[in-house]
Amino acid sequence: MPVIFENEENLTQSPSRAALPREELSGQGLDGESTWENQLRPTSWDDYAGQNEVKDKLKIFVQAARSRKEPLDHTLLCGPPGLGKTTLAKIIANDLGVDCKITSAPALDKKGDLAALLTSLKPFSVLFIDEIHRLGRQVEEYLYSAMEDYYLDIVTGDGLGARSMKFQLVPFTLIGATTRAGLLNAPFRDRFGIVERLQFYDKKALEQILARSAQILGVQVEGQGLAEIAKRSRGTPRVAIRLLKRIRDYAQVKGRGVIDHDIAKFGLNQLGVDQLGLDPMDRRILNLILDKHGGGPVGIETLAASLSEERDTLEEVYEPFLIQEGLLTKTQRGRMVTESAKLHLEKN
Ligand SMILES: Nc1ncnc2c1ncn2[C@@H]1O[C@H](COP(=O)(O)OP(=O)(O)OP(=O)(O)O)[C@@H](O)[C@H]1O
Ligand SMILES: [Mg+2]
Repeated sequence: MPVIFENEENLTQSPSRAALPREELSGQGLDGESTWENQLRPTSWDDYAGQNEVKDKLKIFVQAARSRKEPLDHTLLCGPPGLGKTTLAKIIANDLGVDCKITSAPALDKKGDLAALLTSLKPFSVLFIDEIHRLGRQVEEYLYSAMEDYYLDIVTGDGLGARSMKFQLVPFTLIGATTRAGLLNAPFRDRFGIVERLQFYDKKALEQILARSAQILGVQVEGQGLAEIAKRSRGTPRVAIRLLKRIRDYAQVKGRGVIDHDIAKFGLNQLGVDQLGLDPMDRRILNLILDKHGGGPVGIETLAASLSEERDTLEEVYEPFLIQEGLLTKTQRGRMVTESAKLHLEKN
């Protein structure tokens, strides 16, 4: 049987999630912390800040599908962790007015898992598969006919007596989320009619997210305090919310219960989050390349081994932001730190 997660709380407990580090800033996997994402997760377009281009397009596609009484085309959402892919998928399903079944690729390791899931869908509903780049080749290829023509080849019996029959499925929308779009096979990727890439958020959008979250959490904030947290949140809502919760602790214990500019700066410094939003691990990566490898290039495997970190985690979680900030570059021969990274590290 496939593992179907009806809510994010369970999803975050899937094995691959548990294996992902960076829990301190991810907001996932920590006891007592795993429900806050649900609590703060926007359920409507209006509450979903930023990503305006993606949002505007998706709203049109949803509206058009709804008025044609057709399922929305299969949709692929790409982007680094914590940028709002799961949130977006749920908003799409809400706006379509359909059910949303949530699962994650590592939970679908056999064709039968996928078949059981697909045959249980209601017409037009959304099937959300997280970390879709991790689907096994066989399961992925099994999905092809389901995506294209809504049928599955089901094989009964085995050996010479094996028979294949076509099983008709209801029309549905597959929404896949991936932090590694580059790892998807081209034939798979081509079967998604809508492919959207989420970008890191600007300060203004993060401030909106923080203000809304502060209100839900019932914490008093001042503009400059929020601005400081937004500035140091790696352009990532999940990080912003996580930092907000920690700064709330500092405000309560070390301040006057209000997140003002001073307590935000104090708390962020205590957490080791610097002016650019880099945390101790980001700086370790840059320092390692600079000090031990003369600034690079250095291969990703060597880096992972020196840092005792998974290669995947470096590539999915840390690198995208360092690259976007112009602190790290990827070359044929490996990773290199940039001049601005050197300047930044000298100052911090
Ligand atoms: N645009 C947004 N507006 C408001 N809040 C957001 C937005 N995007 C994300 N969030 C908040 O950030 C949290 C993380 O978002 P989400 O779980 O959707 O990220 P994700 O891209 O699915 O991450 P992962 O790749 O780790 O699965 C959510 O709980 C949500 O509250
Ligand atoms: Mg997600």
